[in-house]
Amino acid sequence: MGSNSMTRTFTPSSGTMMEKMSASATSMIRADHTHVVSTFHQFRAETPHRRKEAIVETVCLALDVHTKIEEEIFYPALREVAPENDALEKSVPEHDEIRRLVARLREMRAGNPDYDRTFMELMREVMHHVADEETILLPLAEQRLADRLGELGAQMTKRRLELSAPKVPAMLWNTAQAMPMRGLWLTAGVVALLAFLMGRGTATRPAHTGMH
Ligand SMILES: [Fe+2]
Ligand SMILES: [Fe+2]
Repeated sequence: MGSNSMTRTFTPSSGTMMEKMSASATSMIRADHTHVVSTFHQFRAETPHRRKEAIVETVCLALDVHTKIEEEIFYPALREVAPENDALEKSVPEHDEIRRLVARLREMRAGNPDYDRTFMELMREVMHHVADEETILLPLAEQRLADRLGELGAQMTKRRLELSAPKVPAMLWNTAQAMPMRGLWLTAGVVALLAFLMGRGTATRPAHTGMH
């Protein structure tokens, strides 16, 4: 007799479970931005080549996943409630430019004289794009999609796990290699990777980026 209420109590829908485990769509996007910007700040002209390549590939892998989930889930949902928004219309062309620079970096080694300049160009593009998203698109989503942010966050978590699965060994290797504290590299690498996979940040947002 109590089986219906037991069922209701103990078998919540997978969507609800995923919503409980996931960050909201806008929190996840902000955490990804912080992850990329803080990884970028580990890059110095004098950084050894191997570590430079690990930092660059960590950024590139994060951008692969981030741009895709925005294009597949976040932007279409925002387009429904904010058609013809200028910042939204520029977003995919800006992602295309980011992808072009990522592809170019992946063809180079850190010893290439264009390597640092190309990475700086990528980060300028990313920072400009992030500033538009954080000052225009995320506040717009929080106004107009307030009741869908949890559900969208769950969809985005599911998709980021699917997209990340084949990249996990490369992500772990590069995240660990990019870590400044060599003695703690494995633990810190695993923690940073798990935080990325769940769309939750561990890094402190750099104060001087001017972002919220
Ligand atoms: Fe973004
Ligand atoms: Fe974006």
